[in-house]
Amino acid sequence: MKTNSANQELKKMVGITAADLIKDEMTCGIGTGSTVAFFIEELGRRVQQEGLRITGVPTSFQSKLLCRQYNIPVQDTQDCSRLDIAIDGADEVDPDLNVIKGGGAAQTREKIVAAMADQFIVIVDETKLVPKLNHAFPVPIEIIPAALTFVENKLQRMGGEATLRMGVRKDGPVITDNGQFILDVQFKPDTDLKNIDRELHQTPGIVETGLFFGMVAMTLVGSAAEMKVKTLKK
Ligand code: A5P
Repeated sequence: MKTNSANQELKKMVGITAADLIKDEMTCGIGTGSTVAFFIEELGRRVQQEGLRITGVPTSFQSKLLCRQYNIPVQDTQDCSRLDIAIDGADEVDPDLNVIKGGGAAQTREKIVAAMADQFIVIVDETKLVPKLNHAFPVPIEIIPAALTFVENKLQRMGGEATLRMGVRKDGPVITDNGQFILDVQFKPDTDLKNIDRELHQTPGIVETGLFFGMVAMTLVGSAAEMKVKTLKK
């Protein structure tokens, strides 16, 4: 789904539209992923050509490197406590604008940045819109390696089917930017994910989940039928 070329056009469209929301002297949380990559490219163009002065706060090494490539000044998350705005992609968006994130294993920093921002804006192509979260995309959960078996067992008792995310062109599990593992979890269709999320946050060894409830102010959606960007607000 991520490499489909029609999706790439839609991702580019929402990335460029989102870059237009950034005003001079803003501090801006910068998410992770292929949609955000288009946002960063356009932001870099505005910094170079329009003299836009901003500070970006990236949520991953991937985004930090892209910011460096496009000469966007950056600050680390630990050096700030509030942001004007944050822009990020998502893996699924439900009708209430709750989202699943973490397809790129960056959800922990992404959630910190989203929480710091006055306005958290999600940018997606329309294939990400679902009637209910965990529809087709598993919930990524970042865990401390030492807790692997304990958390796997707990998830099983909660009705979740967990898969340890494995590296590509790297033997063994994916190691996040925080040095942790990722479990991708599919719950049963009738599961109350808000309750699950609450319980997961009380479980030792779990760093963060990819469930973002009530955090999104606005979603920009790239629609293929009209080749335009739609705005969804709560
Ligand atoms: C990174 O961990 C994720 O939360 C991404 O933001 C999410 O997977 C969306 O990625 P794409 O824009 O590449 O689809």
